[in-house]
Amino acid sequence: MLDCLRAAAVVGPRDRDAYDLGSGAGLPGVIVAVAWPELLVTLVESRRRRASFLELVVDRLGLGNVRVEAVRVEDLAEPVDVCFARAFAPLERSWRASEPLLRSPGGRLVYFAGRSAQARAQAPPGVLVEVRAAPMLASSGPLVIMAKQ
Ligand SMILES: C[S@@+](CC[C@H](N)C(=O)[O-])C[C@H]1O[C@@H](n2cnc3c(N)ncnc32)[C@H](O)[C@@H]1O
Repeated sequence: MLDCLRAAAVVGPRDRDAYDLGSGAGLPGVIVAVAWPELLVTLVESRRRRASFLELVVDRLGLGNVRVEAVRVEDLAEPVDVCFARAFAPLERSWRASEPLLRSPGGRLVYFAGRSAQARAQAPPGVLVEVRAAPMLASSGPLVIMAKQ
């Protein structure tokens, strides 16, 4: 949860909505949604059983700002302000999946990188990249924030 809270620090009051790509057990989407009750967070999880678990979590926690979509990320169409990708896919593939889903300007991907990631080197040309180190957790890699120029 501490690791996921780092993503909440990237969200701002102007952000209206977000996708958690490959949400799994709801990370980081559920944590961010609790931290930002005004943000509409859609948990995108293609595995039906996992999506059912997420629906249970949303119900038990009474999260009015969270939706669950049991679809593949590639099938999404509505643009959002922020996409989160934690253990979803390598950086380049995560960017390719999220880039068409991000509002322009201002839309950004928040990518949880591995410890050995060379985020700047891996980023496609023409993409703004900010790398935030993980100050609290020795086991975490940096957070990479990517935005369309
Ligand atoms: C390794 S888990 C990570 C879960 C969570 N984000 C975390 O950090 O613990 C990756 C999840 O992404 C889902 N997934 C993978 N590719 C997907 C796609 N194209 N569309 C939707 N979900 C996908 C998988 O079903 C799996 O639950």
